[in-house]
Amino acid sequence: MTSFDAPHDRLGRALRDLRISVTDRCNFRCPYCMPAEIYGEKYAFLPRPELLTFEEIERLVRLFAGAGVEKLRITGGEPLLRHQLPRLVERLAAVEGIRDLTLTTNGWLLSKYAQKLADVGLQRVTVSLDSHDDAVFGAMNGRGFGTGRVFEGIEAADAVGLRPIKINSVVERGVNEESIVPLARRFKGTGHILRFIEFMDVGTLNDWNRAKVVPAREILDRVGTEFPLEPADPNYSGEVAQRWRYADGSGEIGIVASVTSPFCRECHRARLTIEGRLVTCLFAAGGVDLRGPLREGASDEALRELISGAWRRRTDRYSEERVAQTGRDGCTPHRGRIEMYQVGG
Ligand code: GTP
Ligand code: 5AD
Ligand code: SF4
Ligand code: SF4
Repeated sequence: MTSFDAPHDRLGRALRDLRISVTDRCNFRCPYCMPAEIYGEKYAFLPRPELLTFEEIERLVRLFAGAGVEKLRITGGEPLLRHQLPRLVERLAAVEGIRDLTLTTNGWLLSKYAQKLADVGLQRVTVSLDSHDDAVFGAMNGRGFGTGRVFEGIEAADAVGLRPIKINSVVERGVNEESIVPLARRFKGTGHILRFIEFMDVGTLNDWNRAKVVPAREILDRVGTEFPLEPADPNYSGEVAQRWRYADGSGEIGIVASVTSPFCRECHRARLTIEGRLVTCLFAAGGVDLRGPLREGASDEALRELISGAWRRRTDRYSEERVAQTGRDGCTPHRGRIEMYQVGG
């Protein structure tokens, strides 16, 4: 499709991907994202009227598509907790210019929704799974939940063709590095693409410090010692994960090394928060309010200008700057960063 005005940011990057967070709720309490001590029974999540409606999201997505966005990812929180999510998927699948429509989920409700989502036009899913081991997984989801239902969800998604399925596994030192090789073994030869993610200092709650990061190099060594690997070319410019193929031809894995090998130079991603703020970096603090103008009756033209203007002003390259920000204690200052579950990972 022809873009009305495909804006480039100050570092020459075009806008291509949009990640939309559709709920701040989650049925997990991963300590690195939504620790149970803080997000207890009484925690007040945003009331419904604060969330963008499906109509509002669809209208914004049309405008984003006009500005160059081709790829949409629905996230949260846990997006499958958003009431009637398939109705949103159906609307977004019909937007001209959107070539890739996908969803990131923790997999808990996936077997229930896979068929419906495929029927209304979702193309593929990415499932988060930090361990194959019930005890480690239970600790990492903060709820003691076992892995069984997540594996069932993955199978259900596979059965209805939501492929290729990607499995995202965040690796945290001292917590799940022993799950790296067993997870690789589990998914090798299945056609699903397992991706290991270096633990990041996103949000303000995960007590990040450098010592908790298992570097990509070590992850690769662990897997490669067991199952020889060779590098593969990126599928597209700016791909977040580095690809590695099993030498025996039984598939591939990915590594998201945003700490040891930042990829900001090729970052074409914008994020839309649950309450309609446009955020141009995972580590941003503020964002541009789109909901206010939308609800006050702004024209498409005015909204377009807000979106393009925000992108044109963009200078974000947090992961590249992190090195300079990391203090002697290995920590980085928070400066009011948005939480991962609000900005959608
Ligand atoms: P594909 O389209 O399947 O290649 O997905 P993707 O790799 O673009 O998205 P996905 O959500 O699966 O990204 C994997 C993980 O990488 C996320 O969960 C984040 O932890 C991290 N990530 C994604 N985008 C960014 C980004 O722009 N900056 C940083 N620092 N990390 C990111
Ligand atoms: N570092 C890296 N990845 C993270 N995720 C959540 N918090 C972090 C973090 N601090 C992952 C989730 C999920 C995706 C949306 O982001 O596990 O796979
Ligand atoms: Fe939920 Fe994902 Fe956050 Fe875990 S990382 S609490 S599954 S939103
Ligand atoms: Fe993009 Fe910010 Fe991530 Fe860099 S740190 S890749 S600018 S989202």
